[in-house]
Amino acid sequence: MGRALSPGEHAPKEPIPLLRSAVEHLTPGRALDLACGTGRHAVFLAKYGWNVTAVDSSRVAIEILQQRAGEAGVTVNALVADLELGEFKIEPDAYDLICVFYYLQRDVFSEIRAGVKPGGTVVSAIHLNDGKPGARPCNSAFLLEPGELRRCIAIGKSSTTGKERRTKKVIIMTRPS
Ligand SMILES: C[S@@+](CC[C@H](N)C(=O)[O-])C[C@H]1O[C@@H](n2cnc3c(N)ncnc32)[C@H](O)[C@@H]1O
Repeated sequence: MGRALSPGEHAPKEPIPLLRSAVEHLTPGRALDLACGTGRHAVFLAKYGWNVTAVDSSRVAIEILQQRAGEAGVTVNALVADLELGEFKIEPDAYDLICVFYYLQRDVFSEIRAGVKPGGTVVSAIHLNDGKPGARPCNSAFLLEPGELRRCIAIGKSSTTGKERRTKKVIIMTRPS
C-alpha cells in the first residue's frame, strides 16, 4: 500500500458519510487520521473543533492537506510518516477518535486498540475481499476478509456498521468508558 500520490492525482474533498454520522453526537477531542491522504477527513474534523493529528507516507498528500486546512482556516497536525516502517507510533490511551479509511495494515490494529481512550471511538471503512474479480485494490493482501475488521478493532460493541456495500466493510466501534 506504500504507493505515493502524484500531484494532480484524484484527491476527494468530501468526507465519507460514515464519518459524519459517527461524530455528529460526539464531543470533539483528540483525533487521529491514519493514512489520511489529502485530508478530507482530517480537515472536516478540524472544522468541527477536533484537535487532529493526520499521518500519511505521501509528502504530496500532506502538502495538499495543509493547503486545504489553510484554506478552511483550521490547523491540523499533519505528519509525513510511513506506518509500515513504524515511523509514527500511536500513543496509548491518547485519542478520543481514530479513523482509518481505505488503508489496511494489519499489524497496526493492536496500536489502534491501545490508542483509543476509554469511551473513545474507532471509525473505519476498508475494501473487502468478496472473492469477485475486479476488487479494489487489486492486491488481495490489502483487502479485508469477511468479519476481519470487527475482530481486528474489537474494542467494544459496534454501535453501527453504517451502510455497507458488497465491496466495502465499514465500522464504528466505541471503547467502553
Ligand atoms: C486510498 S488512500 C486513502 C486516503 C484517505 N484515508 C481517504 O480516505 O481519503 C490510501 C492512503 O494511504 C497512504 N499510505 C500508503 N502506504 C502508507 C504507509 N505505509 N504509511 C502511511 N500512509 C500510507 C497513501 O499515501 C494514501 O494517501
